[in-house]
Amino acid sequence: MNRVYIKTYGCQMNERDSEAVAAMLRNRGYAIVDSEQSADVVLLNTCSVRDQAEQKAIGKAGYLAARKRRNPDLVIGVMGCMAQNRGAELLDRLPDLDLLAGTQKFHQVPDHLDNIMATLRGQGPRPATVVDLEAEKDSQNTIRDHLPPALNGKRQVSAYVSIMQGCNMACTFCIVPKTRGQERSRPIEDIVAEVESLAAGAVREVTLLGQIVTSYGRRDFPFRGGRSPFVQLLERVHDIPGIARIRFTSPHPRGFKDDLVRAFRELPKLCPCVHLPLQSGSDRILRVMNRPYTRETYLRIIDSLRNAVPDMYFSTDIIVGFPGETDDDFEQTCDMFARVRFDMAFVFKYSMRTGTPAAGMDGQLPPEVKEARNQKLLELLHEYSLARNRLLVGSVQEVLVEGPDKLGRRLAGKTAGNRLVHFSGHERLIGELVPVKIEHASASAMVGEVQ
Ligand code: 5AD
Repeated sequence: MNRVYIKTYGCQMNERDSEAVAAMLRNRGYAIVDSEQSADVVLLNTCSVRDQAEQKAIGKAGYLAARKRRNPDLVIGVMGCMAQNRGAELLDRLPDLDLLAGTQKFHQVPDHLDNIMATLRGQGPRPATVVDLEAEKDSQNTIRDHLPPALNGKRQVSAYVSIMQGCNMACTFCIVPKTRGQERSRPIEDIVAEVESLAAGAVREVTLLGQIVTSYGRRDFPFRGGRSPFVQLLERVHDIPGIARIRFTSPHPRGFKDDLVRAFRELPKLCPCVHLPLQSGSDRILRVMNRPYTRETYLRIIDSLRNAVPDMYFSTDIIVGFPGETDDDFEQTCDMFARVRFDMAFVFKYSMRTGTPAAGMDGQLPPEVKEARNQKLLELLHEYSLARNRLLVGSVQEVLVEGPDKLGRRLAGKTAGNRLVHFSGHERLIGELVPVKIEHASASAMVGEVQ
């Protein structure tokens, strides 16, 4: 009666929230299982960024509800962004839910489940859905538990660390400020303590997570020596022995001031790899999106980072088919692709989100236009990532070995630039930084040999 399966939709923040819930539940005596079929409790941790993500989760919950009609003891919970975004109205569509927990309530899930399970065991009438969606002060400090690597079944080399929650930006397309609330940052000391304990458990790489990490602590902690709280945090994490690599996501272009650019030059553990969401290459569309930068200022950031670290890798987020985006606007986005030559990009077709300013804008575009623009960018991206990977053929790259690859035949790891490499080697290399000579390259991965 205590086997829990958690299915996660959406971004790394959601993955991290799910991990923390899993760890808290395991501490309470629940078993975390990796198959939905063998679970007594299924929790869906949801995403609202695009309609498609919400529809997938609603479809899954509907399917689980059908299973519950045959097996009334099945417990179904919906957590996270869609719970927050749609609230109790979701229950009209999904009356069989046992739990609806918002984005500031992940840490309450164990208590809620304990209560639900106790009622089920009592054989009484089925309780009403538990709905817990209020804002909660300091909830950002509750995403800190990790599954012990030994219990996880495999050694954990790379870990996510949530440093803040929420977003104070007002991008006109985006639902996240509604689902995640205002920015709230964790204290530096708590984050450092968490990374130290991960390092003690043999983690070698951390990715610091937040909706806008470059805004970390801006309203709570002072600048010191011209360094923002985020850069101070990077420096502190950099000092932790055992941690070999530091990454972060997502920053905002506005957050790339001199102190952060300098950090890339001065902190060798900070990977030469920046995810810099562009969204559009058209100044006119950027203005309507309420993104406070231009093509020119964006390119200036790219240049300053390339000056600091010549072989910097760049990835980005792009939305195609924003309301009113003309062929010319889209050409500007393609032009930015050509100028920056992104190594990786997430390309999204604009999805209308009820309650955002863009949903009410004129010039909503048909799906075919979005699809064609999406394809065009994916082709460009394929070309650039293939060219970049091919440049590495013949070179020796330092690879952090993460574990067996998907087929289990070879090992897989990443370069500092976050490029995937497969190679043959003994399992004792897992967790090590090893030199690998690159022999073949495709757009998505490379194959090499340990030197
Ligand atoms: N439609 C499509 N993509 C969106 N994103 C955010 N909101 C929307 C939307 N309404 C994308 C942005 C953001 C990423 C996480 O999701 O590119 O950076």
